[in-house]
Amino acid sequence: MQIFTGKTAVVTGGNRGIGLAIARELGTRGCRVVICGRDANALESAVTELKNDGCAISAKGCDISNPAQVDAFFQAVRDHFGTLDFLINNAGAAHALAHVEQFAPEEFCRVVDVNLIGTFLCCRSAIPLLRAGGVMVNNLSVAALQTFVGMSAYNASKAGALALTNVLREELREKGIRVLALVPGAVDTEIWQQFWPEAPREKMVSAADVARAVVLALTMPANTSIDEIRLGPASGVL
Ligand SMILES: NC(=O)c1ccc[n+]([C@@H]2O[C@H](COP(=O)([O-])OP(=O)(O)OC[C@H]3O[C@@H](n4cnc5c(N)ncnc54)[C@H](OP(=O)(O)O)[C@@H]3O)[C@@H](O)[C@H]2O)c1
Repeated sequence: MQIFTGKTAVVTGGNRGIGLAIARELGTRGCRVVICGRDANALESAVTELKNDGCAISAKGCDISNPAQVDAFFQAVRDHFGTLDFLINNAGAAHALAHVEQFAPEEFCRVVDVNLIGTFLCCRSAIPLLRAGGVMVNNLSVAALQTFVGMSAYNASKAGALALTNVLREELREKGIRVLALVPGAVDTEIWQQFWPEAPREKMVSAADVARAVVLALTMPANTSIDEIRLGPASGVL
């Protein structure tokens, strides 16, 4: 795990859930980690928690759906660190269940703006900073591949983000940057409050286990063909 020492990572949505777990896995292995999110209190708590775990961690508020904020965030990363080794596009949003004919257009746009446009904006700003040998991990979902009734905006945005990820993999190959799709099934985080609060948490994978899988994938040699990290509950369904 020496490969993380002295390296720099950005984890979007690193103030809680899967992002926080990935930031911890990277930080405790010697990687400098920069996290972002919108909730300033959650960012502050995450920084305190990770510093207590011995991580070199910094944070800056950023709404990834806002182009000016994304530009400012990556400009700050450039000013402090110069380059990046790992970009973990993790920030994402879900929504209350609704069939398409009842779906508010502004809610559909909000979810697409975060999960698809926001991921695009972060990639666009981060790519000039990514060093050869670097890795980008895009946190998608089984919803990129599998249909969930009532989840049209989430399904569509994650399928779009998968297409974006596949294009990025080809575009960045010649620069020596690997692009991985993270495709989790149900993970026990707060996101479930948005569409199924009473979902059976005990059947879900933990955020810590997802983070361990990500770190393992990052340690694979550069000549390894690994495009996707896929894991979920052993039962397959909840
Ligand atoms: N939990 C699951 O079952 C599951 C399964 C598959 C994939 N995923 C994906 O995993 C990722 C992380 O989700 P999670 O489960 O850890 O959920 P979570 O606990 O709700 O965390 C979501 C994270 O995204 C950030 N975020 C949301 N909107 C943002 C925005 N506009 N700008 C910047 N940051 C934003 C949140 O921070 P702020 O609110 O402070 O902005 C938070 O850090 C998401 O992309 C999700 O789709 C989750």
